[in-house]
Amino acid sequence: MTPIEVVQGDITRQDVDAIVAAANQSLMGGGGVDGAIHRAAGPRLAEAGAAMGPCRPGDAKATPAFDLDPPITHVIHTVGPVWRGGQHDEAEVLASCYRRCLEVADELGVRTLAIPAISTGVYGFPAEKAARIAVTAVRSSPTAVERVRLIAFDRETHDLLAAALAE
Ligand code: APR
Repeated sequence: MTPIEVVQGDITRQDVDAIVAAANQSLMGGGGVDGAIHRAAGPRLAEAGAAMGPCRPGDAKATPAFDLDPPITHVIHTVGPVWRGGQHDEAEVLASCYRRCLEVADELGVRTLAIPAISTGVYGFPAEKAARIAVTAVRSSPTAVERVRLIAFDRETHDLLAAALAE
């Protein structure tokens, strides 16, 4: 089972091979963590995203990392579910995001991967439920990735992810 760590910080500053962007279907950038990654990677990321898009919710597609600092070499863009009350397969789509990011990481030969709290911002997914889905999905996905770093941007998210990891 892949070792998982929880880190509070900025995903654009992580010393990992690839980082995950919680994107929208266009893959051309937006706000939140998507916006932070596009700002750090530069305008070529949106061009590459446009060429790879659209991306369906639950799927993931990779681009180069362009101006992001090494060792980051790839951005894996995934589109999380918009929370609509929990009766529209949101949990399954979110789990699929984590599974597909690991599959794409394996295709790239990525060994260390940082993933933000997908869908828990603009898309409104309850953070505690999302934390449990994230940990369960990563734990249950066969992958060659040697270390997964779940990135929390704030203390509350960090504590929810740590609690899910401790379960
Ligand atoms: N590093 C790590 N995590 C971050 C960063 C950052 N620099 N900035 C924000 N986050 C966290 C947020 O605090 C939240 O916990 O990322 C998590 C996901 O929130 P959003 O970025 O709002 O992503 P999401 O809820 O999946 O909504 C995606 O928002 O930005 C648009 O284009 C994006 O349309 C898409 C939607």
